[in-house]
Formats: sequence, structure tokens, C-alpha cells
Amino acid sequence: MSDSTIVSVEGLQKSFRNGQVTISLFNGLSFNVREGDFVAVTGSSGTGKTTLMNIIAGLDMPGKGSVKVFGKELSSLGSRHLAAMRAHSMGLLFQTFGLVNDLTVKENIELTLYLSGKKKAVRERYVHELLQFFGIQDKAQLTPPSLSFGEAKKVGMARALASEPEILLLDEPTGNLDPPSVNVLLPILRGLRHIYGKTIIMTTNSLRAATIANRQVHLERPTIRTA
Ligand SMILES: Nc1ncnc2c1ncn2[C@@H]1O[C@H](COP(=O)(O)OP(=O)(O)O)[C@@H](O)[C@H]1O
Ligand SMILES: [Mg+2]
Repeated sequence: MSDSTIVSVEGLQKSFRNGQVTISLFNGLSFNVREGDFVAVTGSSGTGKTTLMNIIAGLDMPGKGSVKVFGKELSSLGSRHLAAMRAHSMGLLFQTFGLVNDLTVKENIELTLYLSGKKKAVRERYVHELLQFFGIQDKAQLTPPSLSFGEAKKVGMARALASEPEILLLDEPTGNLDPPSVNVLLPILRGLRHIYGKTIIMTTNSLRAATIANRQVHLERPTIRTA
């Protein structure tokens, strides 16, 4: 594994058993993500995109195979170590955005900076920059419940970026958006790589969204067995 490899997945397989039915995901999937890569994980609904993101984020265990992040085998790390890795090195946007509903948009983004001990002036400057970058300056004083779905996604991404993570994990950032909103979001996603220089793993079931990535990893349909 070269030094610039941030995520390395080898021979991954994960099974879930629901009653009599066992569903096996990933079929021995292998891929690497290097520094500066923008990888699109594609596959239709139910192929395991969210599960893969959870595994890479250390929120779910790999079944068979190896998943290394920053050179460390995730199955060998305890939950505290995994939580620290997420907090310091990863920016996550999951399908439930996890915004704090009684804080404003500005405060939601600023929270991460506050927790990492950034000074007020630095926080103000960076939050202002992020609001501009995502085109949500006029939403700064609103709270999440009054945002549209697409706006909430942008706030979630701004917050993920605020912690200056080494890698961004974006689970379907363009999912459930109307075409005009997707049109607005695609250049923003490109900018995460070109302007902010982030390494990104993005899941999507949109072929159009996938084309903005520089590499694609395709998830096959799961195999299903009945006992
Ligand atoms: N915790 C779980 N327990 C049982 N089955 C699960 C669990 N998580 C995911 N699955 C199953 O794994 C499959 C893939 O789910 P998911 O990762 O959400 O796919 P995608 O994000 O590609 O739509 C689905 O069939 C889902 O029902
Ligand atoms: Mg999903």
C-alpha cells in the first residue's frame, strides 16, 4: 500500500440475515482510494452503498475481507479510536443529515469549528466562506426545519467540510433532488475536489452524478439465499 492510499478495501463481503433470508453484499469487492481521488460508488438501490459508507466510517463492521483507513485495519480498532478517526479525519454526509434543529444554519456549521477549538475570528471567516461556496448565505439565520431538502444537504456538506477532514464520505448527495437542484450541486461537488482539494467517496445511483468523479466503483446486485 503506497503512502498516498487513504482507503483500501480488499475482498469485502458482508451478510445480513433477516429471518430465513441471507443477503450477501459486495461479492469480494476490492478498491483503493488515494489522496486527491474523487471516487463515485454506483449501484442501484439495495446494493449496499450506505452499508459500504458505514463500514468505511467505522460505524459498521466489515464481514469478510479487509478495510484499511489511513493504513489501519478497521476491525482491529476499538470504538473510541474509530470515533476519534471520524471526528478528526472524516467529513460525513449521510442520508439523514444529523443537523441540530434548534441551532441556525450558521451555528450548525460553526459548531464543528468551535469543538475543534478555532478562535472566533477564524470561525467567522471560514463559516462565511463556506456559506458562499455552497450558495446558502441567505439561509444563515434559518434553522434546519425551515430548509428545503436540497438546502439541508448543502448545510450538511458545509458542516462536513468545516472540520477540514482528510476525506469526505458523501452518501447520495444528489439523491431525491429535482434536476435543477442537481445542476446546482454538481459544480459544488467538483469544487470540493478542485478548490478544497478533498479526497472524496460519493455514493450515487445517478450515472450523471457519477461522471464528475475521476473513478467509479460499481456495486453488483447482492446475492440472496433462503434457508
Ligand atoms: N442493519 C441491517 N440489518 C439487516 N439488513 C440490512 C442492514 N443494513 C442494510 N441491510 C440490507 O442490506 C441491503 C443494502 O442496503 P443499503 O446499504 O442501504 O443499500 P443502498 O444504500 O445501496 O440502497 C438492503 O437489502 C438492506 O435491507
Ligand atoms: Mg443508501
